[in-house]
Amino acid sequence: MLAPLIKGTIFAGALSSGAPSARAASAATTPAKLIHHYYKIGSTNSEAMNAASNGAPEGSFFLAEEQLAGRGRGAHTWHSAKSAGIYCSVILRPPMPPADALLLSLAAGLAVRAAVNEIAPLPVDLKWPNDLLLNGKKFCGILAEMNAEATRVRHLVIGIGINVNQAKFPAELRDLATSLRLETGTEWSRVELCAALLKSLDREYRSFIKDATTSRTALLRRFEEHSSSVRGRNVRVEEDGLEGVTEGLDSRGFLQVRTSEGLRTVLGGTVRPL
Ligand code: BTN
Repeated sequence: MLAPLIKGTIFAGALSSGAPSARAASAATTPAKLIHHYYKIGSTNSEAMNAASNGAPEGSFFLAEEQLAGRGRGAHTWHSAKSAGIYCSVILRPPMPPADALLLSLAAGLAVRAAVNEIAPLPVDLKWPNDLLLNGKKFCGILAEMNAEATRVRHLVIGIGINVNQAKFPAELRDLATSLRLETGTEWSRVELCAALLKSLDREYRSFIKDATTSRTALLRRFEEHSSSVRGRNVRVEEDGLEGVTEGLDSRGFLQVRTSEGLRTVLGGTVRPL
């Protein structure tokens, strides 16, 4: 699955700024053929979705030093400054119905949290569905996209953007975004973080696939445990104006909100604390 990708020294070459990708590839062991490293690309998610449609195998990993058209959820973009963050996408071919995709993307959030905590003991807060926060500001976003039939997923791409060493952000993001460097006052190794991320993604994915029923309950519990906002928080869903108090996640991973008209399920959108 994913862990074999980190064998060898691929990431030492792939993520250190200025290192040629050919050198990185040649330094790696066999699975290097699954790693696609770009200095500059539009979006690793777009690249991965195209490759998946053309038959790229599960575990194919797309990593960029810079994205010129990094995409976020909805119509958002993802600011992808050169060699400052981790911008990556992985192709999965999980044997599951499309209805389980949200759960898998929640699992990716837990994987990022674990990876960050492997290199730095920071109080990472998961914000439903796919944001990771430090002190109330976002440092990581996840974009899960898929190609599916009604009953089965053909392929799913998990795209992850982590702000690691950004020292500043454009004015419009300054109040909302942060990086590991801004939170800690020190630079962090993108190589180590990326290696930790591949391991934790692999762990979460294997456990999800192995026993969907048991792992699902545990996954929802762990997500809630590491989120300050999925229970007991006054929120507003930006897109439709729904307001109420969060009441946890349902069995498919959707957020439940108690409104003046009863319990509502939030299917998507941006949930803002009030
Ligand atoms: C969000 O918070 O709205 C999701 C952001 C996802 C950004 C990552 S960066 C790597 C991958 N490629 C993209 O174009 N987007 C994702």
